[in-house]
Amino acid sequence: MSESERHRPVMVREALEFLKVQPDGIYIDATVGAGGHAAEILKVLQRGGGTLLGIDRDPNALRIAQERLAVFGERVKLVEGNFAEIDALHARSLLPPAAGALADLGLSSMQLEDDERGFSFSRPGPLDMRMGGGKLTAEEIVNHLPERELADLIFKFGEERHSRRVARAIVKARPFRLTTELAQVVTRAIPSRAGLHQIHPATRTFMALRLAVNQELESLERFLERVLVVLEPGARVVVISFHSLEDRIVKESFRRWQRVGQARILTKHVVRPTAEETEGNPRSRSAKLRAAEKV
Ligand SMILES: C[S@@+](CC[C@H](N)C(=O)[O-])C[C@H]1O[C@@H](n2cnc3c(N)ncnc32)[C@H](O)[C@@H]1O
Repeated sequence: MSESERHRPVMVREALEFLKVQPDGIYIDATVGAGGHAAEILKVLQRGGGTLLGIDRDPNALRIAQERLAVFGERVKLVEGNFAEIDALHARSLLPPAAGALADLGLSSMQLEDDERGFSFSRPGPLDMRMGGGKLTAEEIVNHLPERELADLIFKFGEERHSRRVARAIVKARPFRLTTELAQVVTRAIPSRAGLHQIHPATRTFMALRLAVNQELESLERFLERVLVVLEPGARVVVISFHSLEDRIVKESFRRWQRVGQARILTKHVVRPTAEETEGNPRSRSAKLRAAEKV
């Protein structure tokens, strides 16, 4: 299996339908990742001379996307950057305003499965969790944040109701070097109610650390504050999120756009993957898609 095939793109049919891809349009994939969604968009653009601008903050993801999308030649432009800076990244590309933008948030399977990145609690790796550049790592947070702040972070970003116990256990056991050492301590700190655990007890704490290290919610907010500027009237914005806090940010931004007459919401209710997709691709289970059209 090639590297890009390790990541199965989520809700591709729905994303393309909502984007209403025109063969001669300019499209932005703000999270190009392994290029799964991008390849499907480019198949349409190939028919009419359109261009896709693919963005990712992870240079490794861009390398994989580059390989996969090379067949589309000059129809595709790839740039490294944080989608929070969407206006500057688009300006630098010298492309005209776009007919649509897609953001498929979170991690790719390649990132999650690369032990050296430290995203996974099931295999030993350094407590890193950075998607792209930046100095802050999970190790820094786990080993140095005061207990109270650590508990607040785990509560806010992980929605972990045992955040105080988890933070206390972490502070008592630190310093940590490896993901699995942290996962063990977190698991022991959470009261076990046999059979009731739907997810691994460390899931929420790891999620919280990842969101904090990468400032993911702030990036999403800034993306949604700026994206309309780079779009032409009638252009579509599609966001696929995997975390309730992300979905709330998307929902509220779209509502604000609609209230002030900047955009029209296309998804009255959030769109979820089909049962068929969730059966075949467990990663899609928590996916939520929302779409809006610039007025
Ligand atoms: C779920 S994957 C996208 C997968 C892609 N749609 C595909 O089909 O292969 C999310 C990607 O977004 C990137 N990413 C996350 N937050 C980002 C941000 N703020 N700016 C740019 N890229 C980001 C990650 O590095 C990751 O490669």
